[in-house]
Amino acid sequence: MFVLRFVFPLLLALTSLAVVATPLAENFVSHWFQRDVELRSSLIFQSVEYSLTDLWNQGKRLESYKKLFDNIARDERVLAVGICSADGTLIAKSTQWPNNFGCPSSLLSSKPVYAVEKLGKGAVLSGSFQLPVESALKPHFVVLHDLTFATQREGETRYYLIGFLIVVSFVSAFVTLLTARMTMRSWIGKLRVTLNDPKVRLSRQNLPREFVPLVREVRQMLRDIKPGGFPLESIKVDWTPQSLSLLLKQELPDSEVIVVSNREPYIHNLVEGKVVLQRPASGVVTALEPITRACKGTWIAHGSGSADRQTVDKDDCIAVPPDDPEYALRRVWLTQEEEDGYYYGLANEGLWPLCHITFVRPNFRESDWQAYKAVNRKFADAVVKEAKTKSPIVLVQDYHFALLPKYVREMLPDATIITFWHIPWPNPEVFSICPWREEILQGLLGSSVLGFHTQFHCQNFMDSIDRFLESHINRDQSIITAGNHSTLIRPYPISIAWPPEGLADVALADICRETVRQRFGLKKDVRIGVGIERFDYTKGIIDRFLALREFLTSYPEWRGKFTFIQAAAPTRSRLPSYQAIQRETHELADAINQEFGDDQYRPIILLGRHHEPQEVFELFRAADFCVVSSLHDGMNLVAKEFVAARNDEHGVLILSSFAGASKELLEALLVNPYDAKGMANAMHRALNMPFDEQTDRMHLLREMIRDNNVYCWAARILLDAAQLRKRAHIESFISETLPVNGKGANNVDAV
Ligand code: G6P
Repeated sequence: MFVLRFVFPLLLALTSLAVVATPLAENFVSHWFQRDVELRSSLIFQSVEYSLTDLWNQGKRLESYKKLFDNIARDERVLAVGICSADGTLIAKSTQWPNNFGCPSSLLSSKPVYAVEKLGKGAVLSGSFQLPVESALKPHFVVLHDLTFATQREGETRYYLIGFLIVVSFVSAFVTLLTARMTMRSWIGKLRVTLNDPKVRLSRQNLPREFVPLVREVRQMLRDIKPGGFPLESIKVDWTPQSLSLLLKQELPDSEVIVVSNREPYIHNLVEGKVVLQRPASGVVTALEPITRACKGTWIAHGSGSADRQTVDKDDCIAVPPDDPEYALRRVWLTQEEEDGYYYGLANEGLWPLCHITFVRPNFRESDWQAYKAVNRKFADAVVKEAKTKSPIVLVQDYHFALLPKYVREMLPDATIITFWHIPWPNPEVFSICPWREEILQGLLGSSVLGFHTQFHCQNFMDSIDRFLESHINRDQSIITAGNHSTLIRPYPISIAWPPEGLADVALADICRETVRQRFGLKKDVRIGVGIERFDYTKGIIDRFLALREFLTSYPEWRGKFTFIQAAAPTRSRLPSYQAIQRETHELADAINQEFGDDQYRPIILLGRHHEPQEVFELFRAADFCVVSSLHDGMNLVAKEFVAARNDEHGVLILSSFAGASKELLEALLVNPYDAKGMANAMHRALNMPFDEQTDRMHLLREMIRDNNVYCWAARILLDAAQLRKRAHIESFISETLPVNGKGANNVDAV
């Protein structure tokens, strides 16, 4: 480009100059030679004037001149000399006087006369000088110069001149090019320094005038594509798998999507010698499967099922969903030691309690950390191996993979890595407990975008970075820059599919209530409360039971008339903290049942097993209220699923204010799970809430979740990814066009 823009026009200009300059130069040289020859003629005459005059006055015979003349004509540039009379007769001449060449015309002048005459193919210059003698012949001394050598010189001069001009053209072009580049470099360097100048950042008034038009244009360009600059809330879209797929095609055409999560979306287990397919009840799967399906992506996950190995191909892949394949599930195998250290150890005994404020002490063991690093590396290698392009979109899920973004970035620098942290992020004091806090932060900053459920968790993350890492934090735009890489920190409140899969086959609320009452032997007038989740200490199941005890104590009229059904799926049961919570919960339920129940009546029914989605929805529809009393939770999708199940617009959600969902589901009865009395009052209020109020609340809750469903969550993330990719494209274009020290103009937006 540079050659075309600068060197070519310059050469053209200089060549044109050469074409014009050469004849001028030739003319000048010819004139100069002629003057030179005239001067010589005059000098020759002056040198022989005396001798000739003397000879003439002595009346010497004309042969006497010959010797003198031959001597003069020995000069290579003198062709011949002679004496002509005024009537044009050649009186005397040197030996070489050309045949057929007489005297030059117009010799009458008493002053020296110079004339150019043709001689054969060449030309001669004659100089005539009248001898100062008294004679009627008026003799003129004539010097003939051969002009052929002058013509030769002119030719040589022309070649030298053209050569010279060509050399000058090249040198000038090179110097111009160099000067232009250096000027541009220094100009852009100045621009960069200016843009990074705190004074300029504070006020645009401080921006030098010369930069104003450029900065204005670049700002406009970047503003148009600023991630998050286009609020999705401002457009009304019914988000469905179809609209998500359309968005992918429009905004990220031909993009390769790779999802990485610990838990796989399809698990194959051996049950009584048969391979059985299991779908884990995971919010992550619900959220990410539509994206992966829409773009025929690849999902990389830990192959944890007992029949997983026998169902994959030679590349450890299986096309899923098995009955209608749309994407590839790539399974990664872990040794028992790796699983113990990475999954049970660092992820679930270290990071999980660290990030949740539940007063369960995190355990950090060096061997777990080593396993965590090795497994993250293993998954990163799998991402690189599966990537078919240099810049895939990699969607990294959760606290199992804090280091993976950095590892992938090292191997695929142009990848768009979007990491979503599904659990809370603690404040810097709590985070400082982690012995490998810097490495974890650095690992996560390998992401292009790092998402949390709430702005509060984004803030905690930025505060942790501020405390422990050398970086620049742009809090206005939530961008962290460490080294020459920037990470956008964004809240993306996760949600559920709307309507949830499997709900269509569930009976109406009245029938569900009847079915559930029958199943658990409840009397017709018994009101029902439900709680459904994994058996995890973060869910506050014990606190919920303590609140139930308080409820039955404070409001004894509900004894015998209210039952709470708690479904809790055992999880991570190898860990002592999980074993303890299961044991304590069962013990507490038994104690409360003994306290307030009898043979006919159990206030708490605790179901310690996994429930399929349809059973869950049936329980939700049967309930008068649902309790989500998480002690701390990133989002909590159970709360949203309960609302989604209640298309009758009845039922009350009692929700912990420590769950991320409480920031969106404002029409729930918000409670503090540590406050048993407050929760007991909320239960009482829920059971006494008029239907109109229930409907009003449920209607708003349902609107909120329908409009902000999981496809909308995915769309927000993908739109930001698309914006980032466009932005990166423009920045790489700018840095290619205006390179400074090999870096792009990635700080231009800072002004
Ligand atoms: C939380 C985590 C998920 C995890 C799920 C189930 O919701 O954020 O990443 O998959 O718990 O836990 P598990 O250990 O059984 O995968």
